[in-house]
Amino acid sequence: MKNIITVLGISGSIRKNSYNTLVLNTAQKLSPENMEVMVFGRLGEIPIFNQDYENNPPEVVVDFKNQIKSADAILISTPEYNYSIPGVLKNAIDWASRPYGDSAWEGKPAAIMSASSGMMGGVRAQLNLRQIFIFLNMFPLNRPEVIVPEISKKIDSNENLTDEHTKEKIKELLDALYKWTLKLKQKVFSPEDLTTEEFPYHHAYNRRTKSKI
Ligand SMILES: Cc1cc2nc3c(=O)[nH]c(=O)nc-3n(C[C@H](O)[C@H](O)[C@H](O)COP(=O)(O)O)c2cc1C
Repeated sequence: MKNIITVLGISGSIRKNSYNTLVLNTAQKLSPENMEVMVFGRLGEIPIFNQDYENNPPEVVVDFKNQIKSADAILISTPEYNYSIPGVLKNAIDWASRPYGDSAWEGKPAAIMSASSGMMGGVRAQLNLRQIFIFLNMFPLNRPEVIVPEISKKIDSNENLTDEHTKEKIKELLDALYKWTLKLKQKVFSPEDLTTEEFPYHHAYNRRTKSKI
């Protein structure tokens, strides 16, 4: 029997008719049988981050962190706002990265998609997200890239993604994320494969307690 992996999908837009949420929902529908994609639907409920409360975060943040931690991998579809990611997404990422030593993102495999009505499809937001992933110690897939420019031309009147090329790319991304996640779990996270003494930097660990995750 194949390993089943769970993926937490996060849309960087809380707009009601968001194209990025549409792309994420499409990915959920196209996901292979060995993958379960859940979409986090409470991003808009997360308050503005204030470090005063990082040790006692609101319930929605606790829920968000738990969902991230229990997922095997993360799938983000984000718009580009002013050459970067939307504040609402960065805010949620910041909450889930705190307090120091208890980041929910630690060691997570991830895949990125972006959609926009414009010509560039959100490429600069993707690059910006990859930069953030460095400090979060996340492992984003490099390829395939799912960039959906001029998305308004690629949907029907019922808000379904109709463009076959885009759908094929999403399927390729999900297959690659599946393989990537298994590879990382075997090669990086299995204590039997690598000892911390021999490969100290290859282990995800809780920086506060210094224990392996
Ligand atoms: C504040 C703001 C800034 C934006 N900046 C950019 C940008 O830098 N590059 C771009 O391609 N589109 C930009 N856009 C257009 C969005 O990418 C576009 O509206 C996209 O459809 C939003 O995603 P959504 O449909 O998932 O909400 C911006 C939109 C807003 C509201």
